[in-house]
Formats: sequence, C-alpha cells, structure tokens
Amino acid sequence: AIQAVVLSGGSGTRLWPFSRESYPKQFLSFTGSGTLFQDTVTRVVDWGAVDSGPFQVLPPLVVCNEMHRFLVAEQLRQLGLEKSPILLEPMGRNTAPALTLAALQAVEQGGNPVLLVLPSDHYVADLAGFQQRLAEAIKLAATGVIATFGIVPDKPETGFGYIHRGADLGGNAFVLGGFREKPDAATASEYLFSGEYFWNSGIFILRAQTWLEEIAAHRPDILEACAQAMALSKRDGDFIRADKAAFSRCPSDSIDYAVMERLAGFSPETPRAVVLPLDVGWSDLGSWPALTSVRPTDHDGNVMIGDVFIKDTHNSVLYSQSRFVAAVGITDVVVIETSDAVLVAHKDRAQDVKAITDHLKKTE
Ligand code: GDD
Ligand code: MG
Repeated sequence: AIQAVVLSGGSGTRLWPFSRESYPKQFLSFTGSGTLFQDTVTRVVDWGAVDSGPFQVLPPLVVCNEMHRFLVAEQLRQLGLEKSPILLEPMGRNTAPALTLAALQAVEQGGNPVLLVLPSDHYVADLAGFQQRLAEAIKLAATGVIATFGIVPDKPETGFGYIHRGADLGGNAFVLGGFREKPDAATASEYLFSGEYFWNSGIFILRAQTWLEEIAAHRPDILEACAQAMALSKRDGDFIRADKAAFSRCPSDSIDYAVMERLAGFSPETPRAVVLPLDVGWSDLGSWPALTSVRPTDHDGNVMIGDVFIKDTHNSVLYSQSRFVAAVGITDVVVIETSDAVLVAHKDRAQDVKAITDHLKKTE
C-alpha cells in the first residue's frame, strides 16, 4: 500500500505577518487557488486516481499540531477527504518525531506501506512530471531504500539541505553521496559552483519499517518516546492524539539531521538512500521573495497583490490585504500589509523576518 504523510506542523515564521502562530502559512493560499496544504494533498490524491500501479492507495495521514486540528479538518473537508486520519502532536518536536509517529501509526494498522512524506509548504508547477517521478521513487522505496528528490540549485540558498550526487544508478537516479543540512553561505556557494549538488526537496519516499529501522539505529531516544506516545494515544473521531506526557519527553530534531545526514556514502551495490533529480518547477515558499516564482511579475520584476500602486520600482514584492499600498523609487524591497501589521524588509534580509516573531513572542 501507499500512504501520503503530510507534515503540517511548522509555524512559517518567515512569512510573517500573513503567517501567524495560530494560522501558519501552510493553511493560507499564496497562489490564488487552494492553500499550500490543500495543494499538497491534491497533488497525491489525484495521482492515486491516475496510476497507483500494483499498490493500494490509503487515505493521506496528516500530522499537525493539536492547535490546528480544526483548520486541517475543515480544509480536508473542502477537498471531500473528511475520512482522512489526523495525527495530533501536543507540541512541536520537529519532523523526525512527526514521521516516527506516522510510521508507527501506519505499521499499527498492520502492514508496511510506502510512505510519501510531504512537507506542506511547496509549490509544484508541472504536476504530471512530479507524479511520474513519484511513481519511480515508489518503486525504489518498495525495495527498502529511502528515495528523495534533488532540485538543481540556481543560487547559494542557505535555507535548504544539500545532497552530493553519488554513483550513477541509471534511470536518472544516484546514490546519496553526501548530505549537508543548511550549510553556511560560503559552503553553499562552493556546492553551487561545483555543479555536483542538489537541493534536498524535503520529500522522502520510504517504507514505514525502513524509517523505523533508521530512527532506531540513529536516534533510539526519539523512537522510544514516540512509541510510548502512540501506545498511550487516544482516538477521537478522525483525530488520533499522541500522549502529551510521553511526547513532551521526546527530543526535537529534523528528519535531515536525525537520519539523512548519516545515510550518505554507501556503496552503489547497497545504497541506503538514493536521490532522483526533479525538474518540475519546484519552489519552497519559505520566505517572501519566493512569491516571484509562483506569481506573475511585471516587466520590472515586481510582484503586486491587492490594491497596490508603484512608480519607478523594481524587483520588489508588494502585498496589500486591507489598505492601499503605494511605493515610489524602491528596488529589492518587500512590503507586506495586513490589517494589524506591516512588514518592510530588504529582499536580501527576508530570511531574518523570523527575528520579528521571536521578538513578538518575548514581548507578549
Ligand atoms: N507535524 C509536524 N511537526 N510538521 C512539522 C514540524 C513539526 O514539529 N516542524 C515542521 N513541520 C513541517 C512543516 O510544516 C513543513 O511542511 C515541513 O515539515 C518541513 O519543515 P520546514 O520547517 O519547512 O523545513 P525547512 O524548509 O526549513 O527544511 C526542510 O525542507 C527543505 C526544502 O523545503 C529540509 O528538509 C531541507 O533539507 C530542505 O531543503
Ligand atoms: Mg520549508
């Protein structure tokens, strides 16, 4: 069987002031159609209907924070997926525990499905291309390896993981030669210049048992806490609540640091992880400048949404939600207006918007 695991517990702080703790970015729409979360689910639900090959397709399993349960339930209902199980984390412990809970839940239902682990903050332009690559990844993952998608980088982005291309396995797949999560700027430039690296898409395709074996090998402390949290979990309709006391003892770590960084460099005969290059107009909507890859730009490179007027303005992002926004003579600036907050930032500093939410949390 195949089951999508949609990771929706992030807080999206770099997209403040749209993205808020109580209403993070994955539940908002930036493209003008569905929300990021809904687009993520739709991408694989459609795929299941088109070509599931020999596999049975299970309803997607969403893993999110307790706080967002009604948002998730409502957005699933809008897609006609009210039967999908929703696994609730009492608090955020990052993606490694989230996937561990999901894998335990999948195995508990009896079986060892191939999990499509999907972050819910991505944009994909070429849906058919994505689904075709996914089908290839599923075949590989069924054999017990971890498959991940690699994106050809076009800038020294420090917000991504980097995958070194290892031995060629044929069929446009490579051994995971090296993995480095979020390198510093100098290292990222070096990687970009070498032409031997991909960005990690953060999408992982693997069997539930494969993940449980890897997390047991590398972070038994995470597995133990999650196993307890699931053993004591309670079902409430479609909600599955991981036990709070047990899960609060779980260390926080990402899939990338906890496992992926340690799976590199195996021989082409027995790789633990493989990378499939993906060229489908992929974008992580991590920070405001990323909007330029999902919304149309004018001939001066500006993205304008809402009631906006500009003169002699270049390469900027201007978003008005409730009031008129006007800009004259600016370049490389982000201006985001909402009814209770306005962001003005240089495009090159868009990653640091996170500092604002940190500040607000402290002064609350
Ligand atoms: N359920 C749950 N619980 N989901 C979480 C949690 C959590 O505690 N924390 C994060 N998530 C979800 C987010 O909502 C998002 O959809 C996904 O997991 C990835 O988390 P991000 O916080 O967006 O990670 P990132 O973008 O910094 O880095 C990851 O993705 C990059 C590509 O987009 C890494 O995998 C990088 O290596 C990768 O390049
Ligand atoms: Mg992300």
